[in-house]
Amino acid sequence: MFELVQCRKSLMVIFLALSFFMFISLSEARVHNYTWDITYQYKSQDCYKKLAITINGMTPGPVISATEGDTIIVNVINKLFMENVAIHWHSIRQIGTPWMDGADGVSQCATIPGDTFTYQFVVDKVRTYMYHSHYGVQKKSGLYGWLIKVTVPTGKSEPFKYDDDDHSIVFTDWYHSSSYEEATKLTSLPFVWIGEPQSLLINGRGKYVCSNLNTNVCDSTNPECVPYSLTVVPGKTYRLRIASLTSLSALSFQIEGHNLTVVEADGQYVEPFVTKNLYIYSGETYSVLVTANQDSSRNYWMSTNEVGRKPETPPGLAIFNYYPNHFNKIPHTIPPPGPAWNDNESRINQSLAIKAHRGFIQSPPSTSDKVILLLNTQNTIQGRTRWSLNNVSHTLPDTPYLIALKKNWTDVFDQTPPPESYDFQNYDIYNVPGNKNSTSTTSIYRLEFNSTVDVILQNANTMNVNNSETHPWHLHGHDFWVLGYGDGKFNLSSDVRKYNLVDPIMKSTVPLHPYGWTALRFRADNPGIWLFHCHIEVHFLMGMLVLFESGSEMVGEPPRQNMGCGWTKSLIKP
Ligand code: C2O
Ligand code: CU
Repeated sequence: MFELVQCRKSLMVIFLALSFFMFISLSEARVHNYTWDITYQYKSQDCYKKLAITINGMTPGPVISATEGDTIIVNVINKLFMENVAIHWHSIRQIGTPWMDGADGVSQCATIPGDTFTYQFVVDKVRTYMYHSHYGVQKKSGLYGWLIKVTVPTGKSEPFKYDDDDHSIVFTDWYHSSSYEEATKLTSLPFVWIGEPQSLLINGRGKYVCSNLNTNVCDSTNPECVPYSLTVVPGKTYRLRIASLTSLSALSFQIEGHNLTVVEADGQYVEPFVTKNLYIYSGETYSVLVTANQDSSRNYWMSTNEVGRKPETPPGLAIFNYYPNHFNKIPHTIPPPGPAWNDNESRINQSLAIKAHRGFIQSPPSTSDKVILLLNTQNTIQGRTRWSLNNVSHTLPDTPYLIALKKNWTDVFDQTPPPESYDFQNYDIYNVPGNKNSTSTTSIYRLEFNSTVDVILQNANTMNVNNSETHPWHLHGHDFWVLGYGDGKFNLSSDVRKYNLVDPIMKSTVPLHPYGWTALRFRADNPGIWLFHCHIEVHFLMGMLVLFESGSEMVGEPPRQNMGCGWTKSLIKP
């Protein structure tokens, strides 16, 4: 009898323990549910009043915070009346959920006015994420968001220490004309350049000089354009999560009188290094540590400057506020000027300094199965200026690729693969392209599932004499190893030998510097079709993109909400 009771007791204990653990694991992964109304609103982000696209009335949109493993559900309701919407979750790999990538023309038909699209995905990695429109050049209108801050689950730790981590800073550039005007100019014949942005924004705030303008149009006292202010307590160390979603500009970020320690890039821990300024390119995210160790009787400037292009835009400004000074107190100093805009060497050097943290190295495969060389230039197609890769410019088809692949609709896109190289021996990267006429294609690179692929981005001269631009390349669905950067033309034997296979950083956006090259390696291990493109929105519009398909046959059936355009109309007939 006694034994039976004992046995029952221990069974009970085991049962309780099991249910407790089940409860723990269930409660750990949470579901976050949001409903977003997308509307146009008048905003005065840089004091100049213009229409902006907002999420629940805000631009930048709301912040999402989560823990690794959580599920995010966002119901996006398009209330724009006359414009479609698609929202991309930048750097979320969408493993097993390729239908949720939010890329118009690739994973879905953009959502028409009045409709709702429900995005649902798991945040599988600790990281700082961003989201933004992936429809036309709509991001320029303000449809981008703050960061999804994914924190480390309890029990795991990070290789650096700080006192406070609640400061997300996103940089954008801002034009006063509408995205419609800009898209029209960029695709017109003859080509009309949109010029440099009017303002650089920090967390959606900037200061345009309103002088001579009617206060109905531009009012420098509007509270919407009060600079962002970050309050710090003397002696404490802060972690700033920094992101750039500029539509054109490459930036340098600095805090007057303070050093920045770079500790994380695109979700990977960096072997820490100290710098006065952080170069940041559209699509990148970083964490930097800053210690409030200067004279605390005053405030300091935080500033962004355009680099890589001759600046015509005043710096973006925010306030580094020492407690207990007033958060709005403008420093009486001149904002730090930042490095020279054309100091390419220091930008390459910073790129090279970003290496994986010693304790967190994820070694790349030592060899690759395929090498794709991509020459970045401009050409014209029937007189229209386009960006091209290996002299081929890319466009998106009317029917999303992923649906076309699933349905085996071979007429939707060009079935001949795009070129994997260019006339590497003879091409002069310092000259205006000789073959002015190029072709446009909807074709895709098909990669063997699970194979290792190297991409070498080669920069060159544009259609303007003595001009080569910076291109931040971003890959959807994967992170890649950054094997190297260099100046001039890539050398297939000697530069390959110099690849960093020891401690390369893994990123999802990487700059290609003027007249330089960047080499990266990734494993095609995410079933679907993924964009790889220049994150400069206007370059994307002008054809600077390619597509990588692999294992798309493993993807499940397209959800109904992803359809409605092109050939997919036939699938949703009653
Ligand atoms: Cu943030 Cu396809 O980009
Ligand atoms: Cu570009």
